[in-house]
Amino acid sequence: MKKFPDNFLWGAATSAHQIEEYSCNNWSVWEKKNAKKWAQSATEKWQLWQQKKFPEMFEAENYISGRATEYYTRYEEDLDLAKAGGHNAHRFSIDWARIEPRDGEFDSKAIEHYKNVVRAISERNMEPFVTLWHWTHPLWLEERGGVLAKDFPEKFAHYAHIMAEALGESVKFYVTLNEPTSYIAGGYIAGKWPPGEKNIFHMLQAYKKLSSAHNLAYDVIHKQQENVHIGFTNILWRFKPSKNTLFHRALIRFAYYFTNEKFLRMTQDHNDYLSVQYYFSVTLSLMGIVKEKNTTFVTDLGWLIDPKGVYESIMFLKKYNLPIYLTEDGLADRSDMKREKFIRDNLAQVQRAISDGADVQGYFHWSLTDNFEWDKGFWPQFGLIEIDRKTLERKQRKSFWVYKNIIDRNAI
Ligand code: BGC
Repeated sequence: MKKFPDNFLWGAATSAHQIEEYSCNNWSVWEKKNAKKWAQSATEKWQLWQQKKFPEMFEAENYISGRATEYYTRYEEDLDLAKAGGHNAHRFSIDWARIEPRDGEFDSKAIEHYKNVVRAISERNMEPFVTLWHWTHPLWLEERGGVLAKDFPEKFAHYAHIMAEALGESVKFYVTLNEPTSYIAGGYIAGKWPPGEKNIFHMLQAYKKLSSAHNLAYDVIHKQQENVHIGFTNILWRFKPSKNTLFHRALIRFAYYFTNEKFLRMTQDHNDYLSVQYYFSVTLSLMGIVKEKNTTFVTDLGWLIDPKGVYESIMFLKKYNLPIYLTEDGLADRSDMKREKFIRDNLAQVQRAISDGADVQGYFHWSLTDNFEWDKGFWPQFGLIEIDRKTLERKQRKSFWVYKNIIDRNAI
């Protein structure tokens, strides 16, 4: 048995829009606009085995978050389940659009709601990890240009200030932004996420706006409270070149710069910890990402399962000499046939990185329950807990107990 450090944080991660019912933000508008199109284009997007296994992908309804998992009203039930799974930490996000539905108007009921969520987490002896922006913001801000709005950083910092003041001492860990680079790539390069652009200048501007939003929020929260840990969550890509030429290697270097490094550099000295969110490794050719042919070691989304990437991602961050948290790690696996091995194998790589000197202090599995997977809708299921789409009944998957066992022993 290999032990994890004492006081290691174990939990699951979630995000507001993916589980809370009836959100009204940039994403809820985007999904309504695109649901039909996504359902109609599923044949082009997904392989035959996926189309056969998950026919919901052809229904427009699959792409509307709607009542989601009703977490906004059922959070206590879900937190009880997390507690029963042995978790001692919990990551969730606040929907800014609920807090500030109109420019400068803060909704005291919504603030009270999230205070209650934090209280409910603490009462269950779990450490709350609070994400302030998991890809959603108010509509009035989206209408002004979303993250490119002139005053996005200041507006974000003000909202961060309001929330930090409301939550006070009960929160020790903040995530300002979730995976800013994924949002930038989806919204300004691929054009598949809001605001649906393919514009390099806007992409560069988005890096600037989001990094200054993070830096400002960092300063504002720290001014209120010295003893909090603030960071952003970072998706760490693992690329392999399709050919071993100098040109391909240069391409990979370029890709690493924009995915894993640029944002980190732009927020230097404004991070108290670093985060790893790792999902897959990909092969990169001059034409872009090569479609994965392997159908065995892949998730339901066709993402290649490659545990070594966990180790490599952690070791990439080690040189910064800051505590590291795996703020997301998980897979879409409806039948739960692969999740158990995935958890064990990935945690073995975390353990290996710790033995090699990395200061890893926590792991959050993505996700606690099945949820709404953005432009893919409900069919990919990431939960340790399965949710019946009709009744919304919660049921622990087998892997939920496997994870609990690891937590109980604090070892693998
Ligand atoms: C995001 C989650 C998402 C998960 C799986 C992460 O990049 O933060 O919101 O559900 O990936 O796609």
